[in-house]
Amino acid sequence: MWEKVWRTDKIAYGGDYNPEQWPEETWEEDMRLLKLAHIDTLTLNVFSWALLQPSEDEYCFEKLDKIMEMAKDHQMNVCLATSTGAHPAWMARKYPEILRTDFSGIKRKFGARHNSCPNSPVYRKYSVRLAEKLAERYQKYDNIIGWHISNEFGGECYCENCEKVFRAWLKERYGTLDELNRAWNTAFWGHTFYDWDEIVLPDRRTEHFSENETMAQTISLDYKRFNSDSILDCFRLEYEAVKKYTPDIPVTTNLMEGAYKGLNYRKWGKYMDFISWDNYPSNEDSFSKIAFSHNLMHSLGDGKPFVLMEQTPSAQNWQPVNALKRPGVMRLWSYQAVAHGADAVLFFQLKRSIGSCEKYHGAVIDHAGHEHTRVFREVAQLGEELEKLGGEILGASKPAEVALMFDWENWWAIEYSAGPSKYLKYLDEIMNYYTALHRQNISVDIVGEEDDLSGYKAVIAPVLYMTKPGVDERIREFVRAGGTFVTTFFSGYVDENDLVVIGGYPGRLRDILGIWVEEIDALPETKKNSFVYGGQTYSAGMLCDIMHLEGAKSLAEYQEDFYAGTPTITCNSFGQGQAYYVGTRPEESFYGRLIEEICEKQQISPAAEAPLGVEVVERLRDKEHYLFMLNHKEGMQKIAVPAACSDLLTGKSYQEKEQLELDAKGVAILKWTESE
Ligand code: GLA
Ligand code: ZN
Repeated sequence: MWEKVWRTDKIAYGGDYNPEQWPEETWEEDMRLLKLAHIDTLTLNVFSWALLQPSEDEYCFEKLDKIMEMAKDHQMNVCLATSTGAHPAWMARKYPEILRTDFSGIKRKFGARHNSCPNSPVYRKYSVRLAEKLAERYQKYDNIIGWHISNEFGGECYCENCEKVFRAWLKERYGTLDELNRAWNTAFWGHTFYDWDEIVLPDRRTEHFSENETMAQTISLDYKRFNSDSILDCFRLEYEAVKKYTPDIPVTTNLMEGAYKGLNYRKWGKYMDFISWDNYPSNEDSFSKIAFSHNLMHSLGDGKPFVLMEQTPSAQNWQPVNALKRPGVMRLWSYQAVAHGADAVLFFQLKRSIGSCEKYHGAVIDHAGHEHTRVFREVAQLGEELEKLGGEILGASKPAEVALMFDWENWWAIEYSAGPSKYLKYLDEIMNYYTALHRQNISVDIVGEEDDLSGYKAVIAPVLYMTKPGVDERIREFVRAGGTFVTTFFSGYVDENDLVVIGGYPGRLRDILGIWVEEIDALPETKKNSFVYGGQTYSAGMLCDIMHLEGAKSLAEYQEDFYAGTPTITCNSFGQGQAYYVGTRPEESFYGRLIEEICEKQQISPAAEAPLGVEVVERLRDKEHYLFMLNHKEGMQKIAVPAACSDLLTGKSYQEKEQLELDAKGVAILKWTESE
């Protein structure tokens, strides 16, 4: 099924534009330049709260009215923001309760942005009121294609009000103090609570000795859940406010780099009409890392297209070193987003400000103020191409036969764990498998523990430490029906409260995997073990499980140490399917090898065969195939096209198996239509 997110007839192109920071006389020239760059979408009003509401009872929309009129007059679509990402100074002065208290217990003063306490009734009242007023006032503008609630929600608050709300959240979750005491295992270190009001937030003053190190894992885990829910409530309240007047305009908020740890984006995705996110890689990031973020965003939106809400056309301003995007890279990365499911390519920012911290952040309209810049030319060239593509690709889906399990609560739990190794980083383990799949151009969905697995041929769940209720059943059913399941060391240990499942690791996964893990050895960074797999020796590091076979076959054994000869990698036949267990962190080349083997057995094939460094991604719209070929390498690459097709960007036609030549940083979008 294909589905559009915005009612546009082409891939939307534009970005954040802040005319309120400029004299009105300059606006017309901006419009001329933006039109010249083939820009059709403006994200407006992202940080204007203080201008829109000069005092408690006074609202002032005149300037925004003019901006909205200007957008309409120039046939620009608008993604309208609610401006609630930075509260006005007068509000902070009058109602200090809206200010956050940080992790160290320091009460913040007015300043910066993203600084409002999510549980402050005053903040909620005024943010919702503003969102509602905006929707009421601008509901008649049929060029508003989306709502942009606040901006990059995130962070935490440890104020006394949040503490009170936390207690209420806990009451809702656990019902009784007895149940809370059980779930939190409070008999440990004399933590038994006799009154809800004895419970305090876990921060530097209480349970933590650093942000990631806590003495009470479950309390800290619940705080993370609570904080994510509190901020989500702010989003949802504004969502409802704008829907009162504009029920048909889809609502989003711009999420941060793929896996922002602080918020459970998978839960958030369920409340957003469509997913949008901000992509700010550095030049050193691998293209697989960028792909992972796009892939995750696509999956969070249930496979619907997403919006690339922000990317810089050239440099950023907040990295230690803000390198320029090399010629062709902005175009390449824009198409990479589209390949992975974006139906809009937007920038931060359309025009560079002259003051404060973003004046050296890249923009379409530079401080030079004209169109004769390299960046402007590249932006305009891409704009022209997107215009020519018209309605092609829009709404197309991106099917996958492999699921990679990535779960926020599991992430929090793994990295709060005291032991076995502080070098264990969940995202690294996820990326080891993702990169291997991505390098082989295997399409992947990134699923959570609660998701349905039945449609996949393979499910890979690295470090499934927290095995929440139901997930083992879904995996069991999946494997029984013929699926291939892969998991690793430190899996199946705990339940949703971070309480160990007793009776032997990997807990509820034990029968599926056919093993019992008796011990886990943590290796210092300088030490390695090794194993032989398919005739090849691989190193094993970080963690080494010491296990017993309970029906599984050993595929490789450790070569060294007191557990030499015991299994490292196992495979268990279970029902019609197979369950692999990788008991250590192997060297990089092993992952590719394992993925090849699994894909071959399960007949999972890449969208097309291509040399390493050429990313191939397919989107589908009914019988129309769109095959993106993206050359991330410096040199020209040749690829055999998998079907008779034509390249939408050059108009050139190809016969099946004909060689296509892709320049350095080049892109091809091959289209063909399946016959009946
Ligand atoms: C974020 C914000 C923008 C801007 C950019 C700069 O993504 O949403 O307002 O600050 O970063 O990179
Ligand atoms: Zn607070």
